[in-house]
Amino acid sequence: MNLPELRIGDKVAKYPVVQGGMSVRISLHKLVSAVANAGGVGTIGGMAIPPGELRDEIQNAKKLSNGVMGVNLMYAGYQFDRLLDVCIKEKVDFVAIGAGFAREPFKRLKEHGIPGMAIISSAKAARVAAKTEGVSGVIVESGQAGGHLGPKDPNISIWELFPEVKDTLDKVGFNGPVIAAGGILDRLDIDRALAMGADGVQMGTRFAVSEESAASPGMKQAWLKSIGSQVEDWSPTGMLSRAIVPHLSERLPKIGINGLRCENCLKACRHRDDPSLYHCIRKALTNAQEGNVEDGLIFAGNRVGEISELLSVKEIFNRLVGQPQAMEA
Ligand SMILES: Cc1cc2nc3c(=O)[nH]c(=O)nc-3n(C[C@H](O)[C@H](O)[C@H](O)COP(=O)(O)O)c2cc1C
Repeated sequence: MNLPELRIGDKVAKYPVVQGGMSVRISLHKLVSAVANAGGVGTIGGMAIPPGELRDEIQNAKKLSNGVMGVNLMYAGYQFDRLLDVCIKEKVDFVAIGAGFAREPFKRLKEHGIPGMAIISSAKAARVAAKTEGVSGVIVESGQAGGHLGPKDPNISIWELFPEVKDTLDKVGFNGPVIAAGGILDRLDIDRALAMGADGVQMGTRFAVSEESAASPGMKQAWLKSIGSQVEDWSPTGMLSRAIVPHLSERLPKIGINGLRCENCLKACRHRDDPSLYHCIRKALTNAQEGNVEDGLIFAGNRVGEISELLSVKEIFNRLVGQPQAMEA
């Protein structure tokens, strides 16, 4: 079976494969444009970077590709509104919004003709998203995804979660693209997701461990060496998250230690409220991205242990779009 195209708004990608947005500074212009040039959909991770940097990333991506490229923003981010302004001004192909939900940003996107994609993890959220003006597509993310998690059962697979959410969307007459995310790694997974009624899949960890990803070589090695990831109360947002656990959490950076100052990256942060609790997640993710993995937090999906090769985006797509077979990752 040939893979179908994926339509987002009036843009069409050759393959129904979305590279999920990955912050902090993992999916930047090089990865995103490579995915778009390979026929997929690229997403810049827009969380916890200054608005000017996001603008530069969008412009640089557009210099490298005419393909389908958008931005992922976390509603929980303090700078959310300013980052959304940048996406609108730069006329990105779509904005995917997760980690919190509000109607207003989708309405604003619609006013500017930009499709909004809601990242959701329950049938209840699906009902709300489907009724929200400006929600043009939905990304259903399971508990097996890397990063912050939305499902009530933080280990639920996409195969368990998707059918109920899709059924809910169908019943309310939602007709935008519905994308399956979290635990998708190879062509068999894509075929299975399409057979369940998905219009496409979103993959994060596989693209994080690519030549074009902006993660440091040390972080890529940590993903390659890891045998899995686990769900922990890692995040001062209060949301559970899935990461590799290579170190003692005492090593994670804290505000007030070694001159670390709070940059107010989150609207609500338990660590900012009480620095004895948790750690600074922006700095922990940045440490990992820059190669200080011992003092860093490494988000990873539950299939990370099956990824044993650092591949180019082109090779990842060759394996995904070829004949169905389990990918030797
Ligand atoms: C390193 C990393 C960072 C991520 N950052 C974000 C983010 O900033 N915003 C978001 O909505 N999802 C984020 N995600 C989730 C991905 O966009 C994607 O939905 C998820 O990784 C899919 O699951 P998979 O890793 O099993 O493919 C992140 C995932 C990883 C692995």
